[in-house]
Amino acid sequence: MMVPDPILFAMNNSRVTVNEHTVFEYDAEFSLLDSMEENDVPMEYNCRGGYCGLCKVQLTAGKVEWVQDSLVPLEEGEVLACCCVPDGPIAIET
Ligand code: FES
Repeated sequence: MMVPDPILFAMNNSRVTVNEHTVFEYDAEFSLLDSMEENDVPMEYNCRGGYCGLCKVQLTAGKVEWVQDSLVPLEEGEVLACCCVPDGPIAIET
């Protein structure tokens, strides 16, 4: 049995908490939206390119890294799941 390296795990920990009850680990997918799909978390989307705004979520804890630009106007704390990835543990509201 392989035991995970606790230091490496702590550095790479990108746990995503959705609506305070669903928890999964982001695993290097292209976007948070892709990771949500991989983990069977239902999410509305359309363009997957930062145009429609349907994948907008509220980031309530942690930080994200943007992986593609967006044309959607965002309020404070809002992020687009198709355009970002977790940068450490995060919590979001859908
Ligand atoms: S799916 Fe359209 S902006 Fe994310």
